[in-house]
Amino acid sequence: MQTGNDIFILSIESSCDDTSCAVTKNNILLSNVTANQKIHEQYGGVIPELASRDHQKNIVPVVDAALKKANIQLSQLNAIAVTRGPGLSGSLLVGLSFAKSLSLALNIPLIEVNHMQGHILAHFIQEQDNLNLENKTPSFPFLCLTVSGGHTQIVKITDYLNFELLAETEDDAVGEAFDKAAKILGLPYPGGPLIDKYAQSGDSTKYKFPMPHLKNHNYSFSGVKTAFLYFIQEQTKKNANFIEEHLNDICASYQAHLINYLLKNLLGVSKETGIKQIAIAGGVSANSGLRKEIDLLGQKQNWQTYIPKFEYCTDNAAMIAITGYYKFLKQEFCDLNVTPLARYEI
Ligand code: KG4
Ligand code: ZN
Repeated sequence: MQTGNDIFILSIESSCDDTSCAVTKNNILLSNVTANQKIHEQYGGVIPELASRDHQKNIVPVVDAALKKANIQLSQLNAIAVTRGPGLSGSLLVGLSFAKSLSLALNIPLIEVNHMQGHILAHFIQEQDNLNLENKTPSFPFLCLTVSGGHTQIVKITDYLNFELLAETEDDAVGEAFDKAAKILGLPYPGGPLIDKYAQSGDSTKYKFPMPHLKNHNYSFSGVKTAFLYFIQEQTKKNANFIEEHLNDICASYQAHLINYLLKNLLGVSKETGIKQIAIAGGVSANSGLRKEIDLLGQKQNWQTYIPKFEYCTDNAAMIAITGYYKFLKQEFCDLNVTPLARYEI
């Protein structure tokens, strides 16, 4: 049942280790419920088989909770949106199968969403109690530095559904560079937020790391990760307590290095394209150092910078919902035989 011309969409995200469901009325978020999986902490990384099992356990309660919180009945929904990829195949399959069943049972369209487009469009999520966002959303065209556990990209966005990849990592993502360094330091997964925490009381100029220069403003993080490993091995050979005695300075120096590298290439792309509307998105955009430094650089370069609300940086269904809404407006629906895409270009 539709109320006037309002469009109600239920959206599901399950690409990695978060099971999330959002309910939206047009571009307004009514609810966004996420179950995080703690089980991976002890393994130092996400175990795909355990992730898909937990999605199976979590999906019904999470969807139920999102509907209740939004005060919306299944019969009011106009469409189901779901992450198709990129991500872990087994994890994606749980969300996608559930979304297909709902779409079939309710006889409403299914919308497949690219997770990375979702991270970027998180900038357009409107909250019920904070509707006056007109001057807080980027205007087109804008550049987005999308930084997560699986991706590092600089994307040009010319319209809600028009994305052009301008630069990306040629090996590891910056989120992996954070998590791997944390693991070397003996910190639990995911280590990015912990490096961020320790960095806040450290000296960021204490230690230096190499910065690869690739063509086309592309990134490479695998050499930086290895250099970090060798640095820690060398220092702990000289002093067995090196990590615990210098943890804050190590984290601050390493984090500052990753941020400098991210921003150096972003600045290059901005200069080349002339675009000064600059956004960040993805899990690593929750990093307090990156959030601060992009604003400082933005002031120097005369940029308008856009930083997503903290809760929309890491994986969530609200970002899938907003993308689903813009696809609904263009009637971009998909077939029920759609399959997950572990790799899904933007
Ligand atoms: O977007 P996301 O939730 O999942 C993927 O799509 O990959 O990103 C997860 C990544 C992890 O590598 C995590 O360590 C990193 O985001 N992350 C952070 C922070 N919060 C999350 N990295 C640095 N500082 C943070 N505060
Ligand atoms: Zn993500």
